[in-house]
Amino acid sequence: KSRLAQQKERTLGIIKPDAMSKVGQIIDAIFQCGFKVTQLKMCRLTRNEAFQFYQEHQGKTFFECPDVSNLINFMTSGPVVAFELMGVDAITKWREVIGPTDSAEARKTAPMSLRARFGKDNTQNACHGSDSVASAAREIEFFFPSVGTVRQNTAKFTDCT
Ligand code: TYD
Ligand code: MG
Repeated sequence: KSRLAQQKERTLGIIKPDAMSKVGQIIDAIFQCGFKVTQLKMCRLTRNEAFQFYQEHQGKTFFECPDVSNLINFMTSGPVVAFELMGVDAITKWREVIGPTDSAEARKTAPMSLRARFGKDNTQNACHGSDSVASAAREIEFFFPSVGTVRQNTAKFTDCT
């Protein structure tokens, strides 16, 4: 393969609230699949943040009204773990590892996938993965803002001591 084909890519993954008790198994799978974890944090999204994160879905039926959206309710129902993965073809590979959006469908067509193993249905589906280079860039910046990172981390460290 050429050097270009081996180019490393970054993607953004999330362990969603329904799969937080499976963090160990999911992190294991991430390393077994050969990804490098380059950033990671646990946090709880506000409704505004969840809405912002999924803004590309505005107008779709499952996302019509943020106040009643199952997706927003679900994504804010508990903490999540967000991470940046690095590897060759990471965006496509990570989406293969998590499997199809609907966990019920995943159990039929990709039984080894994380959504098949740990998800429930079309909304509670255990994991997120960016779907393109552009969305990966936006989503990584959403969870791990590059501007002021050093100062933010310093403040957090001070708060914890
Ligand atoms: P989408 O980007 O289509 O799927 P994916 O996560 O596989 O990229 O949708 C984003 C999330 O929205 C999806 O993970 C779960 C939720 N969702 C629903 O709640 N209902 C739906 O009908 C669809 C398609 C998605
Ligand atoms: Mg998507």
